[in-house]
Amino acid sequence: MELKDVIEKRRTVRDFQHREVPDSVIGYAIENAFKAPSYNHLREWDFIVVKNPESKLSLIDYENLHKTASGDELENIFKNEDEIMKEMYLDAVPKQKKMILNAPAVIVVVFKPKTKVPDAKKIYDLNCLASVWACIENFLLSLAEYDVYGVTYIPQNSKTIKEKLGIPEELEIATIIPIGYRDDKAKLLKQKEINIRERIHQDSW
Ligand SMILES: Cc1cc2nc3c(=O)[nH]c(=O)nc-3n(C[C@H](O)[C@H](O)[C@H](O)COP(=O)(O)O)c2cc1C
Repeated sequence: MELKDVIEKRRTVRDFQHREVPDSVIGYAIENAFKAPSYNHLREWDFIVVKNPESKLSLIDYENLHKTASGDELENIFKNEDEIMKEMYLDAVPKQKKMILNAPAVIVVVFKPKTKVPDAKKIYDLNCLASVWACIENFLLSLAEYDVYGVTYIPQNSKTIKEKLGIPEELEIATIIPIGYRDDKAKLLKQKEINIRERIHQDSW
């Protein structure tokens, strides 16, 4: 596929079909993920492919995702926010548990931090995070090429998840990505219109 078409195609999907994603597709996306730029030239990233339903249930337990806010509560929380953003949260929040359970695979992306997050003082200290997200974008784009989509979920309780999955102490979880084929009934959320011309500045702001 043309690069432009894949970039156009990639969207966050939270509703999945009950259909396995071939390991070859996951492997292809991980291979491409490792072609991303890395701040120290070392590409210190790892991927854990979780398929076991019990492991997925455990992730939900560790993240306390069993109870989500009601529609009314969410309406209230986001009442003063941008309408398009509100629409996204109203769709996304109630799906956090289901998307992990229903996804045929959940990918835990691990990276080696340069500086511990609370010790970061300048953007430079977060280069490791910037790099792993470049890697994650390559991964998502490569999946989209095969009509497989994902949603980058950021865990709140990564310390427990790290312990349970046996991730070495010195590493960190960047994101957990439920992936799968898009359910036909999945809502395609509106994107905010961006006037690109206004976002391009020549020589200075
Ligand atoms: C850093 C980051 C964190 C995100 N965290 C979550 C999350 O915890 N749960 C979720 O459902 N979506 C999450 N998302 C997905 C965003 O909601 C989504 O990318 C955004 O609405 C734009 O939609 P698009 O990806 O379809 O362009 C996250 C995305 C990014 C880049």
